[in-house]
Amino acid sequence: MSRNIIVFDTTLRDGEQVPGAKLNVQQKLEVAQQLKRLNVDIIEAGFPASSAGDFEAVQQIARTVGDTVSVTALARAVKSDIDAVYESVKIAQNPLIHIVLGTSNIHVEKKFNRSKDAVLQMGVDAVQYAKTLLPNVQYSTEDASRSDFEYLWATIEAVVKAGATMINVPDTVGYAVPEEFGDLIRRINERLKNLNDKVVLSVHCHNDLGLATANTLSAVKNGAEKVEVTINGLGERAGNASLEEVVMALKVRENHFGCSTGIRTEELHRASRLVSLLTGLDVQVNKAITGENAFAHSSGIHQDGLLKDKNVYEIMSPQEVGAESMELILTARSGRHAFRNAVEKMGFEAGDGEAFEQLFRQFLALADAKKEVYDHDVFYLVTNHRTVSMS
Ligand code: KIV
Ligand code: ZN
Repeated sequence: MSRNIIVFDTTLRDGEQVPGAKLNVQQKLEVAQQLKRLNVDIIEAGFPASSAGDFEAVQQIARTVGDTVSVTALARAVKSDIDAVYESVKIAQNPLIHIVLGTSNIHVEKKFNRSKDAVLQMGVDAVQYAKTLLPNVQYSTEDASRSDFEYLWATIEAVVKAGATMINVPDTVGYAVPEEFGDLIRRINERLKNLNDKVVLSVHCHNDLGLATANTLSAVKNGAEKVEVTINGLGERAGNASLEEVVMALKVRENHFGCSTGIRTEELHRASRLVSLLTGLDVQVNKAITGENAFAHSSGIHQDGLLKDKNVYEIMSPQEVGAESMELILTARSGRHAFRNAVEKMGFEAGDGEAFEQLFRQFLALADAKKEVYDHDVFYLVTNHRTVSMS
């Protein structure tokens, strides 16, 4: 039986912190609607204490999609932030208050300039206050992966006793590596389950070393029950773990992880394009799952194999993630099989023997000159070739 993994999307909070990615209220609502279509479990809609505009956006999202999706927003461990979250999300059916406070020495000493005990007490006070407002409270131990383990655990134990229902372990600066992060999650999970097995253990990974997806998956393998992710991996600096990568890795390798999510994967492509369009931030062409080339095959050997059986070079179908069907980009390395397929797909007969060989030589000459050959080029080639007739 697959373990269900809770998908928490923070595109509208961590993702929107990216320079140049500012969205207006209407645009945020459009993204939230698409997140609902994707069937994410929790939407982090913003940081309402930061501005009146953010407050309004969170409130409208809670009102619009909060009937079926849990809605949350971020608060520092201070009453005014917690009040702003409560007021903006309370209309949702299943609202959640998300509190963040650092646990690493560098955060405690440099950011707060207080003793470790005093910072821990701030966290406990914040959770106790939030619990007077809502039953569901998530506590994030910021910079957890660079924290002293016993202090990190002392914080988790204290905030769980104060009523936190979800513990989120962030790799805030993308410093962790998969084996080590998985080990951290395993150790926390073991103690947490003994303390209170109803508390949800979550992870939030950044991509500074390009390891956000790998770290998230390693955490899942070691007991994490919830993943914090963003569409297109948008987020601070190099971004967050990408929703589409984590979800598809869990789906394609379900036997390995023993986990699944409720995400409607056919909506992934649309979500990616919408976020890219609204933020003005392009998706890199070779981005896993949603990049333009994610299902494009250009080498002759691959094209030939695919035409025989898609599974030869595809581990998932483009349709499964809502992308257009498999695309064969013709180049000088494409073989006869791929070229014939392109010609016949356009409704032409490719011919046999010398007639076909002649056409293929013309194609190779064009591919050498142009590097990539598109449908309109094939059309031109075929219609100018006297020996090939319309089918
Ligand atoms: O990266 C981080 O630590 C965060 C927290 C608010 C979870 O974004
Ligand atoms: Zn973050």
